[in-house]
Amino acid sequence: MIVLLLLSISLILIYVYLNGKYNENYWKERGAKFYEVNKVLGPFWEFLISDRPLFQIFHDIYKKHPNEPAIGIGTFFTPSLYVTDAKNVHAVMQTDFVSFSERGFEMNEGDLLADNILFMGGKRWKLMRQNMTPLFTAAKLKNMYYIIDKSALDFVEHLKNNPEKWRRNTFDTLSTFCCAAIGGAVFGIGSESTYDSPFLEITRAAFRPTLWSNIRFSLSNLCTPLFKLLGLKLFSEHEEFFIGAIKQVLRKREQEKVKRHDFADICIQIQKNGVMRDESGYELLPSDELLAAQAFFFFTAGVEPTATAIFAVLIQLGKHPNILKQVVQEIEDVYNKYNAQLSYDAIGEMEYLDKVFNESLRIFPPIGFLTRKCVRDTVLPVGNIKVAKGTKMYTAVYELHHDSRYHENPEMFDPERNLTDQKSETYLPFGKGGRICIGARYAKLQAKAALAHVLRSFDIKTVEHKGGLRFGKDQVQLRMKNVDIEFIPRN
Ligand code: HEM
Ligand SMILES: *[C@@H]1O[C@H](CO)[C@@H](O)[C@H](O)[C@H]1NC(C)=O
Ligand SMILES: *[C@@H]1O[C@H](CO)[C@@H](O)[C@H](O)[C@H]1NC(C)=O
Repeated sequence: MIVLLLLSISLILIYVYLNGKYNENYWKERGAKFYEVNKVLGPFWEFLISDRPLFQIFHDIYKKHPNEPAIGIGTFFTPSLYVTDAKNVHAVMQTDFVSFSERGFEMNEGDLLADNILFMGGKRWKLMRQNMTPLFTAAKLKNMYYIIDKSALDFVEHLKNNPEKWRRNTFDTLSTFCCAAIGGAVFGIGSESTYDSPFLEITRAAFRPTLWSNIRFSLSNLCTPLFKLLGLKLFSEHEEFFIGAIKQVLRKREQEKVKRHDFADICIQIQKNGVMRDESGYELLPSDELLAAQAFFFFTAGVEPTATAIFAVLIQLGKHPNILKQVVQEIEDVYNKYNAQLSYDAIGEMEYLDKVFNESLRIFPPIGFLTRKCVRDTVLPVGNIKVAKGTKMYTAVYELHHDSRYHENPEMFDPERNLTDQKSETYLPFGKGGRICIGARYAKLQAKAALAHVLRSFDIKTVEHKGGLRFGKDQVQLRMKNVDIEFIPRN
């Protein structure tokens, strides 16, 4: 018995050793430096055992190797490359998109809710993305703006009625708001507050990260074959609720005549048009399940980053009273100009708020790094590193935003920085290229509407608790912790 046990342990150790050696040689042969701290589990090891977010672990590697074009990292079966050089990041995201068109999150057959644009690949992704894109045009957002505005107003009401939220759990307050707002955009709104929606409580509960979700995520990255073998579903707990809710809303809508301009409307439209088809003849049936999975991405991809974005702006404004004053002045000026309304056009006119938003997302990009999967052999332009089909790519975002070579004095908050599109090689809070955030316009509008309404009603101050701002352990997101916003009602 003991002998057998010892034998298996030694076999595992030998295997792990060989695997580490293999990873190391693999990248050395391709001319990339290799991350040696853990040759088998790479930065995921530290992620699992420490309480730090993955983006910070990547940032440490970046700081140690400021001039490497890319760094190989260990995993069990799939070669993985951490892309640090800005030109290489640009190539992966944009110029060589055809070689890196997949996100590289693995999902298993039958994981219904993971079957959405965020995770899909290949023709399926392209077709679905094409069919969803119309939801986010300026014209559609303008039509939908009444929902966005109402949820922002409900938020202010909610804050006014709940003084216990005026200096505690700010992020939680914001993410409940974003969940309510996105719920409104997906399922539609009635006359009652978006906070009274029956969907709110359950969607809130569904998206709390757990140990189990962290393990599943790490496993899908580190050891895809095992993840597949076990047939793990990323979101199985929520299937019943989500698919049920969407079905219920769709059937009800089919009977209504009014257009509401929300996601449910788009679903009905897509279903009416029948089978989706691309130039090559590839077909996709817009079933309730498929559409429910798309509704689901609003919540998985949208709620937390939007809450983080609003939080990022509030943290900065609460620390910089002069900038806050200027923002509030702009909001009041525009408000008066538009006859005491914060309409879609009014929000669009707040240029200073836009600068503040951009700079806040430079300092706190809600998504700290991006991922891609290589779908055909290619070469990275800087360093001539050969990348084989199947390789997983992790690309720097937070690191570029905080690199003094690209953003002078990077830790300083300065809304006057030039972060227009010309800067997009080193500023990518919404990602870039063919898989850029599909919800960016919606998210910006929702965040700015909320900020404009809240800042008209409340003065704010940033409260850093003892020990100062920290980041919570998270897979891809920045979660600012140990910091809150104090809301002080204006008279
Ligand atoms: C301020 C808030 C948000 C931020 C900072 C953000 C950021 C991002 C980033 C960085 C990506 C990856 C892009 C890439 O890989 O190049 C992404 C993808 C995505 N986002 Fe957002 N996002 C936000 C809000 C939203 C919202 C509200 C929605 C839904 C309405 C949404 C839907 C998506 C989807 C579907 C994708 C995947 C697109 C694809 O793979 O084709 N996001 N987002
Ligand atoms: C920002 O920088 C780009 C390129 O460096 C330049 O073309 C653009 O005019 C600048 N914008 C502002 C507002 O300074
Ligand atoms: C804010 O950033 C976006 C790119 O994300 C850019 O298009 C826009 O011009 C910027 N706004 C200002 C006022 O610089």
